[in-house]
Amino acid sequence: MIRYTVEDQIATIAFNMENAPMNVLNEESIKAFDEAIDKAISDTNVKGIIVTSDKKEFVAGADLNMLLKNASLEQSYAMISYLHKVFRKYESCKKPVVAAINGTALGGGYELCLACHYRIALNDTKIQIGLPEVLIGLFPGGGGTQRLPRMIGIEKALPLLLEGKKLNPERALKEGLINELAESKEELLQKAKNWILANPRALQPWDEIDKKGNVVGMQNYKVPGGNVQSPKGVQTFIAGTALLQGKTQGNYPAPQAIMECVYEGLQVSIDDGLMIEAKHFARISQTPEAKNMIRTLFFAMNEANKGAARPKDIPTADVKKVGILGAGMMGAGIAYVSAIAGIEVVLKDTSVENAEKGKDYSRNLLKKEIERGRYSQAQAEEILARIHTTAEAKDMQGCDLVIEAVFENRELKNQVTQETEIFLNEKAIFASNTSTLPITGLAEASKRPENFIGLHFFSPVDKMMLVEIIMGKKTSPYALAVSIDYVKKIKKTPIVVNDSRGFYTSRVFGTYTAESITMLSEGISPALIEAAGKAAGMPVGGLDVSDAVALDLMYKIYLQTEKDTGIKVTDTPDGRVVKKFVEELGRVGKKAKKGFYEYPEDEPKRLWSGLKDIFPPAPIQPDIEELKKRILYRQVIETVKCFEENVVTTLRDADVGSILAWGFPPYTGGALSFIDYVGVENFVKEADRLANTYGERFRPTARLREIAQSGKSFREFYQ
Ligand code: NAI
Repeated sequence: MIRYTVEDQIATIAFNMENAPMNVLNEESIKAFDEAIDKAISDTNVKGIIVTSDKKEFVAGADLNMLLKNASLEQSYAMISYLHKVFRKYESCKKPVVAAINGTALGGGYELCLACHYRIALNDTKIQIGLPEVLIGLFPGGGGTQRLPRMIGIEKALPLLLEGKKLNPERALKEGLINELAESKEELLQKAKNWILANPRALQPWDEIDKKGNVVGMQNYKVPGGNVQSPKGVQTFIAGTALLQGKTQGNYPAPQAIMECVYEGLQVSIDDGLMIEAKHFARISQTPEAKNMIRTLFFAMNEANKGAARPKDIPTADVKKVGILGAGMMGAGIAYVSAIAGIEVVLKDTSVENAEKGKDYSRNLLKKEIERGRYSQAQAEEILARIHTTAEAKDMQGCDLVIEAVFENRELKNQVTQETEIFLNEKAIFASNTSTLPITGLAEASKRPENFIGLHFFSPVDKMMLVEIIMGKKTSPYALAVSIDYVKKIKKTPIVVNDSRGFYTSRVFGTYTAESITMLSEGISPALIEAAGKAAGMPVGGLDVSDAVALDLMYKIYLQTEKDTGIKVTDTPDGRVVKKFVEELGRVGKKAKKGFYEYPEDEPKRLWSGLKDIFPPAPIQPDIEELKKRILYRQVIETVKCFEENVVTTLRDADVGSILAWGFPPYTGGALSFIDYVGVENFVKEADRLANTYGERFRPTARLREIAQSGKSFREFYQ
């Protein structure tokens, strides 16, 4: 668990958790660490302490299982208070303690370093340092909200605490999170040793007391305009809180608690500040929002990342060479993420010039990465050398996987499938990145439909973490296994769905835009519609995102659906609006610089002034809460249908996919968790009310009624 050694009067305490993939802070490791600290403090032969790790990472954070286990408010408070006690013990033990950060130090792992008197990190761009707790609905409860602002100032600390940014060691040095860099592990330990041998003052600035008994640095806890207590300081906090409220729309309790901790905690001593932090931490860890985010964004996402949906009996495939057909926006992005994962890429377009244009995308991104210090020039060149451009199908020979990303045209897709397959070996997988065409139909062009699968990436490929894997009727478990192995290799999150119109993600996302456009047709103010989307927690307003997707693309999908299913989708309220905008007004969205918004040259975009003439505002505007409900319930009902129809087959994939694909609000835990968030019974009642008022699209399914009557939660019913 912990290696404790003493050499040259220096104690080394190294985390080394044997039965865990990485070092984390849990009950056992904290206790073992505490005992080692006691030993070092009481040993009069020991002059100073180095804290480090024998594993690849330093300490990756707190064990979230521990948080879930310590479920009550009291347990949570007791757990965090114990951690504070341990940290406080070595921080005030008068022997110098130095953190030798040999690997990633996040959350509790970095808070442990903050309580050390000095921090040295290995200069490796893969190492991450920071306090990302807020990203899973929590906040740094191991002293992070107290020590970081005291150390680097409130102004610099708040964005790090509120955005959960992870920094590489060089950036961490610049921001003041660490004191020094080392170029090798040996140098790291040597520097740590030298620092102790130089007899430094083992006193934290927040423990330095002047003759009057005041903390010496207290007056330095400044915000723009003064210190925390000055009128200007207070004003700054009020303004900051308002800004935060605008960003989080009051949906996320953790960032608010961080602000309160910093504000309250920096007016008192460190010990009192830590007590304030513990109190807030215990409260936040009890919130449904934190529990939702931990469950979906941590546990469920990790499960998906590990390949939970992968058939177990098929040996792992090492995808070494990937062919990409079409070097447009998507193909170029897929080439980039594959090449940086160490995969050889054959990038094909209609001419080598076009394929090279696709490769330029990687050249440009890598240039930026070199500037950011993520890659060296040599590494970037190595990555680029993996992308081979071509216009010849025969160059796909030897690929383990081919991903088709040509125009969204069935005939073209069929043609490239057939001309490529001739050159593929028996085991190679052929995947389509189609966004709308059912996979089973596309697989009909293939001689080996069992090796044909859908790999739906999202744009921009390098930033979007999700890949939706679509099983055609004949797709084999082998093709699924290889696809998941590939998605894991490029470090994205896979979800697996069955073939259906719009698959899972586009189908549900389409209800968000459709409901927003329907509201427009009812005379609801467009500004109110957009505000409701954001207040519900969607990242972008429904009209704004419709413009970004492009109305002509939406119209094309409506027409295709109509053709394939006979359902008159162009004759629905939203269908009629989209048709009018495309056919009559020629306002197809952002790419044409005119849609629901207008896009003046040198000014920010704004809602199109002509909207009020086409959709005269209703004399009485609805309450924003009602619009938020319509926006969220419509998506959730569609997700439930996807789940009941077996399009998406696990709660995990439904929740994770909803958040990562189209930004369903994370505080809810995802589109199915939402039902338990509001309670199944409430959900059914509200959905019925919405259906009676606005139409059958909101009507809950028979199964939902059954669950509501069973008294179980949605999750319990299915598990
Ligand atoms: P794009 O228009 O940017 O690129 C398509 C590329 O295919 C062009 O470079 C074109 O020259 C090339 N191409 C055409 N015929 C070819 C052939 N016979 N052999 C090789 N290359 C050929 O299109 P984009 O946006 O990259 O989309 C590609 C596919 O990905 C489409 O099926 C689209 O529906 C799908 N998709 C698009 C998303 C998006 O956000 N744009 C998201 C997810 C999927």
